[in-house]
Amino acid sequence: MFNFDTHKIKIFTDGANLDSIIKLAKDDFIDGITTNPTLMRRSGVTNYMTFANSAVKASQGKSISLEVFSDNLDIMIDQARILSGLGKSVYVKIPITNSQGEPTSSVIKQLLNENIKVNITAVLSYSQIDECIRNLQGNSFAYISIFAGRIADTGLNPSLFIDYAINKLKDKHLNNVELIWASTREVYNIYEAAKVGCNIITAPPEIIKKIKLYNYDLNKLSLETVQMFKSDSDSAGYSIN
Ligand code: E4P
Repeated sequence: MFNFDTHKIKIFTDGANLDSIIKLAKDDFIDGITTNPTLMRRSGVTNYMTFANSAVKASQGKSISLEVFSDNLDIMIDQARILSGLGKSVYVKIPITNSQGEPTSSVIKQLLNENIKVNITAVLSYSQIDECIRNLQGNSFAYISIFAGRIADTGLNPSLFIDYAINKLKDKHLNNVELIWASTREVYNIYEAAKVGCNIITAPPEIIKKIKLYNYDLNKLSLETVQMFKSDSDSAGYSIN
């Protein structure tokens, strides 16, 4: 949990590097882990289940989200059951649609009926937020991952989408449903997410590292920046003639 001023937000690490998961999961500051098939591929993961098992072990009982990827909705349910069976703290990431654009509402409802924890992922639009909320029941353990960075890529303010979801969830008595600011692009997103009242932000390790700069002296940071330029120009042996 990260506290600043009067705000607080849970911090999840988003990635698929096992060493980094092992290290960060031990940190009190980190409340959970998220990953996805793209991050796994980028990290060189070749066997999904070997990675998933190791990641669950490394997670120290903290929340860990693992994603299904079948386009067939029945197979998606089977994959979710297997992933959920890896540990009590597993949230199964169900994309809001399959890759053919078919809604996955039936999958989400079925899994929630089986008391499987879900992380509804790749949520970008207002109508998708509405659809997520329609699928939830009072006892559902679920996350809604709003892909803020990808929303921002289109020129829109992602905070408005989180705010919309918070308002829609109000008075619904969904006590175990939390919103995730996903697709985090920079450390300032952590402050934006906390200020708007988002429960969780998931961020890559290189962004989490920068939280230590909170309230850092800007003149000192300026000096360190110039020192970096100097050190690099010296190391490169540059001259301007
Ligand atoms: C969240 O759970 C996702 O893994 C992640 O934030 C995706 O972000 P991207 O937009 O960088 O792919």
